[in-house]
Parts: sequence; C-alpha cells; structure tokens
Amino acid sequence: MPLPVSTVILGTGAYAPARVLTNTELALTIDTSDEWIVSRSGIRERHIAAPGEMTSDMAVHAARLALADAKLQPADIDLLVIATITPDMPMPATACSVQHKLGLSTSTACFDLNAACSGFIYALDTACAMIGSGRYRHALVIGVEKLSSIVDWTDRTTCVLFGDGAGAAVIGASARPAVGLIGAKLGSYGDCVDLLCIPAGGSNTPASTGSLASRDHFLKMKGKEVFKYAVRGMEEAARDILEQHGIAANQINLVIPHQANLRIIESIAQYLELPMERFFVNLDRYGNTSAASIPIALDEARRAGRINPGDLTLLVAFGAGLTYGSALIRW
Ligand code: UT7
Repeated sequence: MPLPVSTVILGTGAYAPARVLTNTELALTIDTSDEWIVSRSGIRERHIAAPGEMTSDMAVHAARLALADAKLQPADIDLLVIATITPDMPMPATACSVQHKLGLSTSTACFDLNAACSGFIYALDTACAMIGSGRYRHALVIGVEKLSSIVDWTDRTTCVLFGDGAGAAVIGASARPAVGLIGAKLGSYGDCVDLLCIPAGGSNTPASTGSLASRDHFLKMKGKEVFKYAVRGMEEAARDILEQHGIAANQINLVIPHQANLRIIESIAQYLELPMERFFVNLDRYGNTSAASIPIALDEARRAGRINPGDLTLLVAFGAGLTYGSALIRW
C-alpha cells in the first residue's frame, strides 16, 4: 500500500445513557448544593449508565453512529483503539468485547489505551500514526467511560464532577495534502501519579477486604493541585503545538478542550487570548466524562455546524498520570 498523504476523521458519533442525574438530586444524598457545583465547576447534570450497561455497550452505540456518519461498514475497520480508564474488566481489553459486539473482522487489531482524560487525543494520534504507516485502512477510535462505577458516591469532593458516556471517530487515509491530523503533542507529569488515582485493585495493592474497607478501590483526587497542573499542562500543550506548526491562536476556529471544569477552560481562553465563543463547552450537561469528553464534544460540535470544511480545530486535554495532550485538525 502507498503511504497515505493525510489521515482524516471520516465520521463521528456519541452516546450518553438516558438517566440524567442533576445537581439538585445529588444534594439529596450528600452535603452539597447546585450553587456550589455550578460555581466551582460549571457542571449542572451528568448521565449515568443503567444497571448492567457496560462500557463496551456505550462504546458500541457511539461506534455505530460514527460508522454511519462515515458511510462505512464494520467490515471496513481493521484497527480499534479504545481509550478508557473504566474497562468492562481489568482484562482482557474492552476493545475485544466491542469488536465482537460490533461484528468487526477477527483480523482487526484491538487494544485499550489508558491515558485517562487525555486518552482520546493519545488514541487519535496512535491510530493516525498506524493508518499513516500504510498498514491499516480504517480505524475506529473510541473514548468511553463508566465513571459512575469508580467514583465514591459518599465523597462530595469527587462524585459531583464525573459522568458516563462515549464518543467515537472513524479515521482513514486521504490523498488531499495538509488535512486531517496536522500534528499532536503528548506528554505526562509522571511525578504526580498520586494526585489522581485509584490506589487499590492493581498489582501494587491488590483488592482485599482492607482495600474495600478503606474505599481505596475508588477514584481519589487532590482537586486543588490537579487544577493547577491542568491549567499549566493544557496551556503548554496548546502553546507547543501552535508554535511547532507556526499557527497563531486566532487562526483556530474552534477549541475543543477536555470538559473538566469551566474555570480551567476560561483560564486557557485567557492564556490564548481567545473569546469563549471559540471554545466548545458542554460540561454543564455531561460533567467530566474523562476519555469520552472530547469525542462527545467533537461530535456535538460537528452536528451543531460549529466545524466546517477548511476549519482548524484544536483539541486539548489533561488527566490522571498526569497526562496532557493537544491535537490540531484541519477539516
Ligand atoms: O479531568 C481530570 C482532571 N481533573 C480536574 O481537572 C479537576 C481539577 N480540580 C477542580 O476542578 C477543582 O479543584 C474542584 C472543582 C474539584 C474543587 O474546586 P475548588 O475551588 O478547588 O474547591 P476546594 O477543593 O478548595 O474546596 C473548597 C471548599 C472546601 O471546604 P473548606 O475546606 O473551604 O471549608 C471543601 O470541603 O468546598 C468544600 N467542598 C464542597 N462543598 C460543597 C468540596 N466539595 C464540595 C461539594 N459541595 N461537592
């Protein structure tokens, strides 16, 4: 196969479970308020998976919509990358279950990728590089999370922030030059692992009655510290990729940031000296869906007509690790 000139997004899809949990409902079970959650984060409600609804189920919904948007069939896919921190099971990869549920060929390369909230950008860059190698034709890249299964619903400092959902993109080659993924910048502050983690359930602290009692199998976050790194990481990731490609911030038509906190997004807008109208924000309706947040927002932005041919879009994210990433896409 000749090496493709560009790797492009051919279609997108998104899914959120039907159940909507509002701030007011949360305030009935924990010591919080709609006013606190909205003023500190911008979040008003989030979607919560139904009992028995798995991460792979949500991924399949989003993937079917992305395939339809791309006008492709399951048989056209030969690479499946799933970004998630909430796999159906610790092993095997959720990508294998999604492959089966979608009816993808058994010769599809399937794997999960864990870069937390930066996961979709990591997966997009990985898939584009694999398509760019000429050895794969069409990739499905899915960011999906069932965060309701790992948050501690008794911990008001974290449980109000997160939600469930899935977003997918189909990637393929294009003969058009200078379109699709123009570039990506990935990185990590690996000295900050402890700021946002699930302490138990891995090889360091296997699940035990003790880890259950200490609630260490739930997500723990030092919110204030993570906030500072999030602003720094997203600013650096945005600045580096713009500089690397000689692009001025005001050439960006739309920024799709990770949807963690409206105050973080406002800081990035200030740093890039761009008005908030250039930022796509939907965290008020979804909360933080980690790896799913950018692909859900990307799909909503496309369907809302916020992305047009020729536009330049900047994706920028930050998450546990602490990872960060940015990507530039020309449509
Ligand atoms: O996506 C992965 C990356 N994650 C993030 O980017 C999250 C980054 N962090 C944040 O978004 C913010 O730090 C939070 C939204 C988590 C918290 O906002 P904050 O302004 O940093 O608040 P805080 O943690 O300093 O808490 C302020 C007060 C505390 O009370 P005292 O100690 O001042 O009396 C908390 O106990 O608010 C209290 N508090 C709450 N009150 C009502 C904490 N959570 C709640 C709550 N409802 N849910």
